[in-house]
Amino acid sequence: MTIKDNAGGARVKDLQHIKKVLSIAGSDCSGGAGIQADLKTIQAHGIYGMSVITSVTAQNTTGVYGVCDMSPEFVGKQMDVVFEDIAPDAVKIGMVSSKDIIREISSKLKKYQPRFIVEDPVMVSTSGCMLMENDAKDMLISELFAIADVITPNMNEAEVLSGISIKDKEDMVKAAEVISKTAKAAILIKGGHMTDCADDLLYVNGEIHWLRAKKVKNDNTHGTGCTLSSAIACELALGKPLLRAVTDAKKYVYDAISAGLNLGAGSGPLWHQFPI
Ligand SMILES: Nc1ncnc2c1ncn2[C@@H]1O[C@H](COP(=O)(O)OP(=O)(O)OP(=O)(O)O)[C@@H](O)[C@H]1O
Ligand SMILES: [Mg+2]
Repeated sequence: MTIKDNAGGARVKDLQHIKKVLSIAGSDCSGGAGIQADLKTIQAHGIYGMSVITSVTAQNTTGVYGVCDMSPEFVGKQMDVVFEDIAPDAVKIGMVSSKDIIREISSKLKKYQPRFIVEDPVMVSTSGCMLMENDAKDMLISELFAIADVITPNMNEAEVLSGISIKDKEDMVKAAEVISKTAKAAILIKGGHMTDCADDLLYVNGEIHWLRAKKVKNDNTHGTGCTLSSAIACELALGKPLLRAVTDAKKYVYDAISAGLNLGAGSGPLWHQFPI
C-alpha cells in the first residue's frame, strides 16, 4: 500500500520502510496539546506514532485543572516495551514534571540511543499552571539537554533557562548563547508569544538563523509548542537536515493554525489533520 504526500512533502513508498516517532509527554484529555497533539502531528506526516505517557492532565482550552504523574518506574517500563519491540527513528520529549521521571527517561535514552531527540522544555502552561517542579530544572539541563539534538524553549522558558530577561530579538540571541553553554544541542527559541510577528531563532554552534513568520490572527493556539516539537522529530526521522526540518515543521504549525479550527471556550486547538 502506498501513502500519498505527507506534510513534509516526502513520499513513503511502502509500509515496510515507514518511519516511527515516539512522543514521551503528558496527556491532554482535550486533545489539543501533549501526547494527543503529537500523535495527530505524527499521523499527518505519514509516520507511525507511539507514546510514553509521563503524566495525565485534566485540561481543556480554558486551563489546566489537575495533574497526575505516572511513577518513574512505569514511565521506564513503557519505554522498555516500546524500544524492545518497535525502535523509533526519532523521539520527542515534552512534559516531564519531576526529577525522578527525568532521571528515568535519561537513563533509558542512554541505553537505547535513538538517532534523534527533540527536547521541548515544557515548564509552565500558557494558562499559567506549573508543569515542572521548581527543583527539576537543573536535572533537565544535566540529563536531557546533554543528549538532545534540538531544544525548543518558548520565550518564557528561555528566560528561566538563561537568566536573561527577553524584551527583543537581541535578547533572544543572548539567551540562546547562554543556553548553548549547557547543551550540545541546537537551540530553537520560539517567538510565538511576540505581538508583532512569530519569528523563531535557531541557534546552531554559534550560527544564527531567523525563521520568520507573520503572526496568524487566531487566538486558537493551544498546543503550538507540542505540535512544533513533534513535527521537528518527524522531519528529522524523514531524513531532512536540521535547518530544513525545523523550517518545514514551523510551516506545518503555521498552516495548522491558519486552517482556522475554532473549538472550546478558550484558546482552542490547531487543525493537525489539514494535510490528510
Ligand atoms: N499566532 C501565531 N502565528 C504564527 N505562528 C505562531 C503563532 N503562535 C505560535 N506560533 C508558532 O508556533 C510555534 C510554537 O511557538 P510558541 O511560542 O507558541 O510555543 P509554546 O509557548 O511552547 O507553545 P505551548 O503554549 O503549546 O506550550 C513557533 O514556531 C511559533 O512561532
Ligand atoms: Mg510550550
